[in-house]
Formats: sequence, structure tokens, C-alpha cells
Amino acid sequence: MNFITVKSYDELSIKAANIIASQIIMKPNCVLGLATGSSPVGTYKKLIEKCAAGELDFSTVTSVNLDEYVGLNGDHDQSYRYFMNTNLFDHVNIDKNRTAVPSGISGDLEAEGAAYDKHIESLGGIDLQLLGIGLDGHIGFNEPADVFTKETHVVDLHESTIEANARFFESIDDVPKKAITMGMGAIMNAKKVLLVANGANKKEILEKAFFGPITPQVPASILQLHPDVTVIYSEN
Ligand code: GLP
Repeated sequence: MNFITVKSYDELSIKAANIIASQIIMKPNCVLGLATGSSPVGTYKKLIEKCAAGELDFSTVTSVNLDEYVGLNGDHDQSYRYFMNTNLFDHVNIDKNRTAVPSGISGDLEAEGAAYDKHIESLGGIDLQLLGIGLDGHIGFNEPADVFTKETHVVDLHESTIEANARFFESIDDVPKKAITMGMGAIMNAKKVLLVANGANKKEILEKAFFGPITPQVPASILQLHPDVTVIYSEN
């Protein structure tokens, strides 16, 4: 594991964007696993700048996102589809038909999960998976549990996650209680993993996840078993 501590969020964003840009340059038809949350927003801004400067071409890139809230459709301003459109896809030359976010409004979420995994498999898996980390150690929305779940599945969001994400909604009651998330199978099968985290409040969970025991109670700890993980952390 490569654990990089940087001095500022800007530096984190520049480094993460450079790693993603290198991936796209080396393999223009790569499959990117993408993440939401506040941590990757700066990274996406830097990628948009590179694309605008003509340094980066997303036209043959395919993407698969980690997760979506159950019950929000893609037009909802807190849905992860909306987040991806407004924070990245609308501003780069990616073909939106090549971008996938699990549907949180499918009538059969179990079938949606199975189809999502098939889709990832049909793409040959993920070349580079970008991740954030929740305060409870979740990646995607894989919450602390008794087991690691391999497949894309529906989860009950933990109270601390609902509280942490309430800042994006009008009130805590508006935060969905469930989400559909990629499981550990597709994440661990990704050829490379890049995890970005910023803020002093993430320090403790990063220590547990990357230097503590591997346990489904700290979902990100499974990444210690991945052969190619880079973590970029900024305390500020
Ligand atoms: C959400 C997302 C995660 C993300 C986490 C941390 O719960 N489902 O993918 O990593 O938040 O977000 P932030 O970067 O805003 O702390």
C-alpha cells in the first residue's frame, strides 16, 4: 500500500487527478470506478480543467459508480447520478451512455444489483477504482457488518452515515435510509484502487482501516489485501 499524506486538499486533488489522468492516457478505453462524497469533488474539478485544456480525452472512457440512494431518481439533486453529472460528466467529453450508476428506483433492487455486477463483468472489470471513506469505515455504502458482501446489494444506512450525509439534505429526515452499493467483489477485483480522504476527522478511521485488523466491522480494512492501493490523505 502506498499511503501519501499531503498538506492541503488542493494537493490531494492534483495528485489524485494526475493518477486518474495517467490511467486514461495509458489506456484510453479504460473502465473507471467512480465515487461520490465531498472528498473527490476537487479531483473531478482538476480532471475537468485537464479536459478543457485538451490534455485529457474521456471519449472512450467507461465508468461505473459505486452506489446510489434507494428511492431517489437521477433528477433528484441529492442522487448520486445527479452528483456525477454536475460534478464531472456534464463538463468533460465522456459519452453518458458509457456511464453507469446503480438505479435506486428499480422495482426489483436485487435484480438491479445482479445486472450491475454482470455489467461490470462484461466490461472486464474496473481498471481504476476511486474511493472515499466514511467515518465508520464504509467504502461505497458497504457499512460495518458481520461479513464482507461480495455482490452489489441493498444496505440499511447506519445512523452515523445518515447523520454525516444530512448536511447535503434540507433535514435529516430527508436522508434516505437505504442505498444500493457495489460490493467488495468488484472493488477488490479492480486493478488499482485510489482512496482519497480529507479532514482531521478521517485520521482515526484511516489508521484503523489501513493499520488495524482486517474486519468487516471496518469495511475499508479489506483493502489491505488488495495488491495495488494508493491512499491520499490531507488533514486540512
Ligand atoms: C458517502 C458515499 C461514500 C463516500 C463517503 C464519504 O457515504 N457513499 O462513497 O466515500 O460518503 O464522503 P465524504 O468524502 O464526503 O466524507
